[in-house]
Amino acid sequence: MINALIIIIYSMFIFAINGLSTPHKAYRGNHWAMLAMGIAIVWGLYSLKHTYLVPTAASLVAGALTGIIAARKINMPDLPQMIALLNGLGGLAAGLIGISEISNADYHPLLLLFIISIGFITFTGSVAAFIKLAGLKLFIDKDTLQTMSLIILVITVITGFYAYNNSGEYMWGFIALLCLWGLLFILPIGGADMPIIISVLNSFSGWSTVLVGFSLNNTLLIIVGTLIGASGTILSYIMTKAMNRSLMKVIFSPPQTTTDDIANENKVIRQGSPQDAAFLMENANKVIIVPGYGMAAAGAQHELANMAKILQNKYNVDVKFAIHPVAGRMPGHMNVLLAEADINPDDVFELKDINQEFQTADVAYVIGANDTTNPLAKTKTDSPIYQMPILEVEQAKKVLFVKRSLAAGYSGIDNPLFYADNTLMLLGDAKEVTKQIVSNLEE
Ligand code: TAP
Repeated sequence: MINALIIIIYSMFIFAINGLSTPHKAYRGNHWAMLAMGIAIVWGLYSLKHTYLVPTAASLVAGALTGIIAARKINMPDLPQMIALLNGLGGLAAGLIGISEISNADYHPLLLLFIISIGFITFTGSVAAFIKLAGLKLFIDKDTLQTMSLIILVITVITGFYAYNNSGEYMWGFIALLCLWGLLFILPIGGADMPIIISVLNSFSGWSTVLVGFSLNNTLLIIVGTLIGASGTILSYIMTKAMNRSLMKVIFSPPQTTTDDIANENKVIRQGSPQDAAFLMENANKVIIVPGYGMAAAGAQHELANMAKILQNKYNVDVKFAIHPVAGRMPGHMNVLLAEADINPDDVFELKDINQEFQTADVAYVIGANDTTNPLAKTKTDSPIYQMPILEVEQAKKVLFVKRSLAAGYSGIDNPLFYADNTLMLLGDAKEVTKQIVSNLEE
């Protein structure tokens, strides 16, 4: 009976992951995951000893309430930070389970040491990712952080050796050092490499669940942890490919200080208005929309969906959306927002499938995207985005850039496209500008 239930829950999680692989089936995938989780919780409660029932139910209610309040309060642009924290909480839970089993002679000390290590590193590493995603300023420079990280790593390994041989005595010091190392390890990693780090932390939280599953002899935890760990690992691989980076490079080569090589006298922009943009797009045959983090920050996806519909239905324009694998601040960030605005998934294309089409596009409407279009990624060897494939928006006849200023993107480097002859800058909030374009298109 129990084995059958495990197979059912496990299969539901596989359906969920399969569903999440395409926008068409994403809602269904989420429902499968919720159902599987619900059954697993009820089954867990049912098989608990009576003495643990009250504290477990109280923790469940506290956790559920916190989750519901956080999910309702969180703004869409802050979702990546929340995901980072959720990864971290998975790690913290694993670490705490490891601590609670220290005195249990049934478990091999090496297994517990592994659980505690991966759990706490995932926890503080995710806190560091949260700090970076929230854009908080660091007061120590990156080189110093890397040196400190290396020193703390050596001390942690030595303390871990003592903790293994003398268990309890050195364990607390070992845990404190692990936490510190998790922070110092992630903080110096370059901003543009954060997508890779987030998926690595995601896979860590899965693997720590697997180890907990082994320690508690819980098959379901092993299976579900493997699913999370494996999908996080695959995602990390996809991200490193998408950014043209290796994991070793991300971790061991700190981002360099980049020089600004666009001369000030060449920084002349052509500024346009929403009327100009509406005119250009209603007279175009093909418009490719390139959303980025600024669209998410402005919450402009519904206006964007509206604009696309009017262009398609009223003006017969061929409208497509181009998504860069690291656009926004979390994997799939743009896909989630476009799906939320009911944009037809058939109009949404990945970089590799659409890049050639910019040559035949009349307009590239770049809304809140910056690094993901920056041609310096091809040539500027000291830039944090060097060798990252970009969306070739400059090949369109006209490029409309919607952003509030000429400020750099996440990687901190200027974008020569702002000053290109075929670029029209539409300076303003992404939602406001798109709204004004829509009213011009409606007239
Ligand atoms: P970015 O390069 O970060 O550029 C976003 C632009 O949006 C900014 O230049 C900003 O310019 C503009 N913006 C911000 N708020 C706006 C608003 N309300 N209205 C209009 N514009 C606004 O974005 P991207 O092209 O999406 O690239 C993503 C970057 O983030 C990459 O470097 C990537 O490596 C990094 N990253 C990605 C992830 C994941 S997993 N996707 C995670 C962490 C980091 P103004 O201030 O001038 O408006």
